[in-house]
Amino acid sequence: MAGPIGIFDSGYGGLTVFREIESLLPEYDYIYLGDNARAPYGARSFETVYRFTLECVKQLFSMGCRLVILACNTASAKALRNIQQLDLPQYGAHYRVLGVIRPTTEIVGHITRTGCIGILATPGTVKSLSYSIEIQHFFPNVRVYQQACPMWVPLIENDEHTGPGADYFVEKDLRALLAQADCIDTVVLGCTHYSLLLEKIRRYLPPEITLMAQGRLVADRLADYLRRHPEIEAYCSKGETRRFFTTETPEIFDEKASRFYGRPVQSQHLSL
Ligand code: DGL
Repeated sequence: MAGPIGIFDSGYGGLTVFREIESLLPEYDYIYLGDNARAPYGARSFETVYRFTLECVKQLFSMGCRLVILACNTASAKALRNIQQLDLPQYGAHYRVLGVIRPTTEIVGHITRTGCIGILATPGTVKSLSYSIEIQHFFPNVRVYQQACPMWVPLIENDEHTGPGADYFVEKDLRALLAQADCIDTVVLGCTHYSLLLEKIRRYLPPEITLMAQGRLVADRLADYLRRHPEIEAYCSKGETRRFFTTETPEIFDEKASRFYGRPVQSQHLSL
């Protein structure tokens, strides 16, 4: 039976991807699940991120989703491969889990002119080397420089990202990235939270550097995926409904979520 498309993130960041997906593909039903009670995932171990993400994916499957998007780089980096290889086979042919790193790495090599790319991400994503490995796979001549930004997600989640405290950390981490190589001409926001810091990041980056956020990119690739996989698309129901679930209290989620989603959100609590 057809069901909604599941969108998962550790917390709020996935909403920046979801808003682009639903604006491009409004006809489908969607369930958004934020594991806010256990966020942030960014500094957690591989095993923990895998365990938490798998629990959430199973939950979305049990709510009728056949296709789940991990709208979280940390989960895509640390859990996606295991879930695809170890867990999905138990579910059968028409269950799919996709991430946000691959759609980004497939494109980024076409954008750089110097062949030098900077990645800004959580410590977990950086340590996993997922961006470097995937970009090398598609563009063997491109060099990848990474910078972990451990304070950015906590600043955003605590609504401090527009204040002067955020300027300090944004400038510090961008300086550390650019100090790694003069040739960096393209910088990827490798965390779905970071688009809320876009303005500040832009302010501290030289204007000639191209800044890439993921939302629209992931939405385009999903539309393409659904076109190329009619057997999966057939399992995605089209009733234009959106439901939001959080492992935190809905009042807290709803208040913050609208900043990421751009519109009011009414969520329900979910215990895992
Ligand atoms: N939004 C997540 C990402 O894209 C990270 C947030 C977290 O650390 O939980 O990596």
